[in-house]
Amino acid sequence: PHAGSGDTWAKIILFGEHSVVYGHPALALPLRSLRMHAQVRPAAGVPMLRSLDYRGELAASGRRFACLRRAVDVALERVGQPHARLDIETVSDFPPERGMGSSAASAGAVIRAVLGAFGVSASPAELFELTQQAEQVAHGQPSGLDAAVTAAQGPVRFESGRMELVQMKLDAHLVVADSGIRGSTRVAVTGVRERYEREPGAVGELLADLGGLARQALRDVAEGNVHPLGEAMNHAQQLLTSLGVSHERLDVLNDAAIRAGALGAKLTGGGLGGCVISLAPTARIAQQVRSALTGAGAVATWIHPLQPVEVTA
Ligand code: PMV
Repeated sequence: PHAGSGDTWAKIILFGEHSVVYGHPALALPLRSLRMHAQVRPAAGVPMLRSLDYRGELAASGRRFACLRRAVDVALERVGQPHARLDIETVSDFPPERGMGSSAASAGAVIRAVLGAFGVSASPAELFELTQQAEQVAHGQPSGLDAAVTAAQGPVRFESGRMELVQMKLDAHLVVADSGIRGSTRVAVTGVRERYEREPGAVGELLADLGGLARQALRDVAEGNVHPLGEAMNHAQQLLTSLGVSHERLDVLNDAAIRAGALGAKLTGGGLGGCVISLAPTARIAQQVRSALTGAGAVATWIHPLQPVEVTA
């Protein structure tokens, strides 16, 4: 093999976390200013991993890197070199375990880098499948949303394992804020499953309502309806709270964003911590919202302009 590299991005779920696991649609987008970069090289000795917060033997890299180790294995199987030894390096512009898709993004980037090192190319569908195989090890039964969106060219609709790029006519700003609290997606998804089994009627209705908001949001982004989109975010936050996946720190951040002029605010991703997103109608208000979020305790914030996206078939 030679050296190889691969890139993916952070992702944000606008609508449909949790309900997507039950077959409802979700709307999500890659944040292409926040990159995950992976580089692989033939290993001189024992394969090593170097990342933001780990430097050592790949095999000893612990539970949080299980998905990444599996990504190396599935990629090596794909190129027909299951015993090849590679050093892996990942460089990320965004934190792990905050609902930004770090594990799928690193798996996707590493898979691309390994394939590149052997001069093997694969279709987007095949790259998605390989990333899903890696994610399954770490997260049980992920919906596939993260694997799809972290490698997508633009905003996507995702439903039952299928993704399509969506039209966006919106002119607004998304403010992303990290609560600093690690939320476990696995714990959140298990909690929702237990609630659903206890009370299928009521919880099924909550999930269907979340799916309904995602459908409405898909229409709103296509038509450029910023205000209804903000209201739908607030509504989704209420439903996610009823599902038991919010956190009081997230409520504090969302309230601060709304008071500073955001049109809506909600958690994003698995919840129980992680990030919140809020919608600001202008760049100036986005800055005000960002200051308010920092004042309310956010450990990091990002402003992401939402620009019109034309989808050509
Ligand atoms: O926490 P994240 O960003 O990995 O998002 C998880 C999204 C869920 O819908 C909660 C789970 C899934 O598999 O789709």
